[in-house]
Amino acid sequence: MSKALVLVAAGGLAREVLSAVRAGAAPGHEVAGLLDDDLGKAGTTVDGVPVLGTPDDVAEHPDADLVICAGRGAARRDLAARLAKLGVGDDRYATVVHPATPVPAGCVVGVGSVLLAGVVLTTAVTVGRHVVCMPHVTLTHDDVVEDFATLAAGVALGGGVIVGSAAYLGMRSSVRERCRVGDDAVLGMGAALVEDQPARTTWAGVPARPLTRREEPK
Ligand SMILES: CC(C)(COP(=O)(O)OP(=O)(O)OC[C@H]1O[C@@H](n2cnc3c(N)ncnc32)[C@H](O)[C@@H]1OP(=O)(O)O)[C@@H](O)C(=O)NCCC(=O)NCCS
Repeated sequence: MSKALVLVAAGGLAREVLSAVRAGAAPGHEVAGLLDDDLGKAGTTVDGVPVLGTPDDVAEHPDADLVICAGRGAARRDLAARLAKLGVGDDRYATVVHPATPVPAGCVVGVGSVLLAGVVLTTAVTVGRHVVCMPHVTLTHDDVVEDFATLAAGVALGGGVIVGSAAYLGMRSSVRERCRVGDDAVLGMGAALVEDQPARTTWAGVPARPLTRREEPK
């Protein structure tokens, strides 16, 4: 018999995770429902799965494993802290790895992380907890992706890159080998990062630089 899986947050990422689980990304699990803070979603269904309540109702599902599906890493971090106060430990989180994403021996993927179709890990890659890698992300030798980071579709990391906690790397951005993306930093889609990016900054462009906004006309 399959084990119940409850997805926390019922947005776009939850639907992608649901699709991946249906394709075999969490062997032995079946998605039983979703928990979302939007009370308007209670009692509705998302792609055929019921919204069972809010994250505060997690105690009603003591036998279910969980995956936090908020798209922003900071939101996943907040939800994990909230659920921890309700007694949810690391042992309650499933890891979702699409069957089209082989994880070689010597690579590590932390609990609660989601690797969608076509992600490549070459060798000695460490992926932390509650990390999300969208389709076709490429992680190469000795990369470290810290907890709650989000790598959008097509991101490519050179060897020995460190992606800090809850950092967000936009679609098809790339990072030069041995560079570090700081905690909570945002790297814009299409950027090429060629030096370390400080924590909590937003950089974009080729080569990536701090994002500046055009002056509003007077
Ligand atoms: C970098 C990013 C976070 C900036 O968003 P923002 O703070 O809302 O910025 P704005 O859209 O107001 O743009 C500010 C300026 O930066 C420019 N800009 C925005 N994104 C850029 C990018 N990726 N590369 C280069 N320039 C960019 C804009 O053209 C604008 O320039 P202007 O002031 O000269 O007109 C966003 O554009 C981005 O790249 N997000 C990632 C999207 C993504 O990968 N989504 C995946 C969903 S799964």
